[in-house]
Formats: sequence, structure tokens, C-alpha cells
Amino acid sequence: MTLTDAGPTGALRIAPSILAADFGALANSVREIDSETDWLHVDVMDGHFVPNVSIGPPVVESLRRYSSRFFDCHLMMTDPGRYLEAFKKAGADGCTVHVEVGGTASLINDARSLGLRVGIAANPDTSFERVAPFLGDIDLLLLMTVFPGFGGQSFMGDVMTKVTEARREIDANQLDVDIEVDGGIDVVTAPVAVGAGANVLVAGSAIFGRPAPLEAAHALRESARSAQR
Ligand code: DX5
Ligand code: ZN
Repeated sequence: MTLTDAGPTGALRIAPSILAADFGALANSVREIDSETDWLHVDVMDGHFVPNVSIGPPVVESLRRYSSRFFDCHLMMTDPGRYLEAFKKAGADGCTVHVEVGGTASLINDARSLGLRVGIAANPDTSFERVAPFLGDIDLLLLMTVFPGFGGQSFMGDVMTKVTEARREIDANQLDVDIEVDGGIDVVTAPVAVGAGANVLVAGSAIFGRPAPLEAAHALRESARSAQR
């Protein structure tokens, strides 16, 4: 396995979101949870697509020196195409763009030609029909379980209908696509999401927001395993 291999598609993956970590001590935070996690979820917010601003390529580049995990960059941006190359150069392994911003087919092509693993994301109120046409061209489908923009929100259970629909479609067509959920994932909601068909679990507050992040990540994985089908 190379340093930044995503691992087998469909396998259970814990992806801590650094949004909930102490930005003044990111390198330590990331190292601390390394042994209990699989990917590192990097939330990029542009203050336009979402009403919040977070981090960009320079932070990815710095973090790359401290982690050999797969960097799963979630681009909550109106114009992600302008930055794909910068993220790739900074050390991103995968980039996920929101389907709501449009131009999805060409964004997928651009990301692919840069050698990135490619994801598309859908907000809670975006239908499965909107993402279904792209399933054959992507590696990851991110189904948001909160409206993006902030950590620490409550899991929206209604989205599980969409997760089930996506899992059915992906399995029926034997597609190599991960289903990721993001927002409000903890030891209670992780088994619900995995039971519905998700296999990549993003968690910010439930890991970095806990007094013992490593133990919290372990507990999250165990809770998810209990629901694996
Ligand atoms: C929301 C972000 C999430 C968020 C998850 O806009 O995409 O990744 O950080 O945070 P928790 O796990 O706290 O809901
Ligand atoms: Zn995210």
C-alpha cells in the first residue's frame, strides 16, 4: 500500500474531520488519532458556497508532512475547479466537489486528469437523481447528513433513505464507489449510517471534540463495525 492509498472501495473507513481539531495544534491532533483512523477529512469552506471560511491548500501542504493518511478533501466551494490543481500539489489524495455548484461532469474530468480520487457531494435536500448520472465516473459519493458549513450539528436521519438508494444502485451495478456520510456522526448515528449502506464515516466533534480523541475514534469504529452487513 502506498502512503496515500485510499484502501479497498467499500471497506469501513473512519475519517476524522480536522474542522473540530485545535487549529493551533493540528500536527499533534492528527498524529494522536492516527492509529485508530483511516483517512483524514479536510473541510474546505470558501465563505460563499457555505457561510463559513476554513482552510486551504497551504494547510494541506503543512499537514502532509505529519500524516501519511489518505487526505480526503471536501471542497465546500462555489468554484472548486479553480483550486483542484492547488490541492493536488499541496498533497490532497481525493477531492470531493458539490453537485449543487454545477459543471459536475467537467469537474470530475479535471480532478481525474490531475490524478485525484474523485468524489461528488450532495446536500441533505439534493435528490439522489441529481447524483445518479455520475455514479459510473466517481470513486466516492458524499451524502451530507447536515447542511454543510459548521461542525457540531445534529445528524439528519432522513438522509438514510438516500444512502439506501445509493447503496442499492452501486451494488446492483457493481460500481467501485464509496458512500461517505458527514455531519453528526457519533457512536449512536454511525451504526445507523452503516446499516443504511454507508462505509466512510466522517466525524469531527465525536473524535476531536472529545477529551480522549484516540479512544473516541476506537469507540466509533467499534460502533460502526457492529452494524456492518
Ligand atoms: C460540515 C463538514 C463536516 C463537519 C462534521 O460542513 O463538512 O465535515 O466538520 O462535523 P461533526 O462531526 O462535528 O458534525
Ligand atoms: Zn466535510
